[in-house]
Amino acid sequence: MVDKIKVAVIGASGYAGLELVRLLVRHPGCELAALTSLEYPGRPFSQIFPALAGIVDLPFSQDPAPAKIAAAASVVFTAVPHQTAMGMIPRFLDLGCKVVDLSADFRFRDVSLYEKWYQPHTAPDLIPETVYGLPELHREEVRRTRLVGNPGCYPTCVILGLAPLAQAGLLSPHSVIADCKSGASGAGRQALLGISFCEVNDGFRAYKVLEHRHTPEMEQELSWLAGTPVNVTFTPHLVPMSRGILGTLYANLTAPRSEGDLRELYRKFYQGHPFVRLHPPGSLPDTRDVRGGNFCDLALRVDRDGRRVIVLSAIDNLTKGAAGQAVQNFNLMMGFPETMGLETAPFLP
Ligand SMILES: NC(=O)c1ccc[n+]([C@@H]2O[C@H](COP(=O)([O-])OP(=O)(O)OC[C@H]3O[C@@H](n4cnc5c(N)ncnc54)[C@H](OP(=O)(O)O)[C@@H]3O)[C@@H](O)[C@H]2O)c1
Repeated sequence: MVDKIKVAVIGASGYAGLELVRLLVRHPGCELAALTSLEYPGRPFSQIFPALAGIVDLPFSQDPAPAKIAAAASVVFTAVPHQTAMGMIPRFLDLGCKVVDLSADFRFRDVSLYEKWYQPHTAPDLIPETVYGLPELHREEVRRTRLVGNPGCYPTCVILGLAPLAQAGLLSPHSVIADCKSGASGAGRQALLGISFCEVNDGFRAYKVLEHRHTPEMEQELSWLAGTPVNVTFTPHLVPMSRGILGTLYANLTAPRSEGDLRELYRKFYQGHPFVRLHPPGSLPDTRDVRGGNFCDLALRVDRDGRRVIVLSAIDNLTKGAAGQAVQNFNLMMGFPETMGLETAPFLP
């Protein structure tokens, strides 16, 4: 029997960290060796999250003395805010760990783009070796790297929705509109007025119009696929649900195509990618069908005599949009089957 890989989750008390723990505890190839939290050091994980009582009773450790973490684990998942992540990751790498970072700190190939939207980067020397961890686009590079920048939730939804069109040269580069709706867990577990129950329930609003930091991430990957700069007009909305993102993506096509043509294009593009599911004609994605599952569900409609496409894309922001994708990347980095530990069906109903 092969030894299990020991893993640590930094920021295990947040929503993304919690979802990582939920998935990793049932992963046959790994063992949870360290879970960190600034707020709950010394307290058993299951005391804070009774849903995992008897399943994960490991106590939280105080935040992350890298030498201690690296002595306990060979792979580190960093599920902490951006800026905090890049402050600790170089040390984990120096100590021989592989890292999957769920923050935005290692998602950009161009450090100036990161610095334009976030803040000065403190570990720019690591950027050339970092891989953008969307396995449907970069599977082979993920297998070879020691540092994955795990994609953002909205970018996962939008890039997977449009990637086949971009690569085929069918995406008119200034026409893309990404109208996306997310549940409140996208903002994390911290207590914020704007995501408190009465501020979210029974309402529906846009936020950060033309300012959302996920925009350059979508543009980076779609431009790379298209071989030409692609602009995305991205409008995020907050809807009163806990998990899930539905993207309604509009784009003009550079040449007319039928829905059947595009379905065939998507079928071929995602052949061999087990987590992208194309709905049959007449059926549309629903965030309820992907809750807790690592799937991205897609559907296509073609309008205006084959000149405009509407793509519907649904993911769970915490699973395919964060922790599930991180486990998918971990599997590739470790040489495990890509689906290992991710075979669980989404929650029903
Ligand atoms: N939520 C999503 O849907 C989603 C999707 C994709 C990516 N992400 C990314 O995943 C990361 C975590 O997001 P989240 O939604 O899980 O946020 P969250 O619920 O606010 O959790 C943040 C976690 O980071 C820890 N933390 C905060 N500051 C820290 C510091 N200075 N040092 C060490 N640990 C610290 C917190 O620990 P304590 O509370 O115990 O202090 C907590 O465990 C972020 O970078 C986010 O952008 C989130």
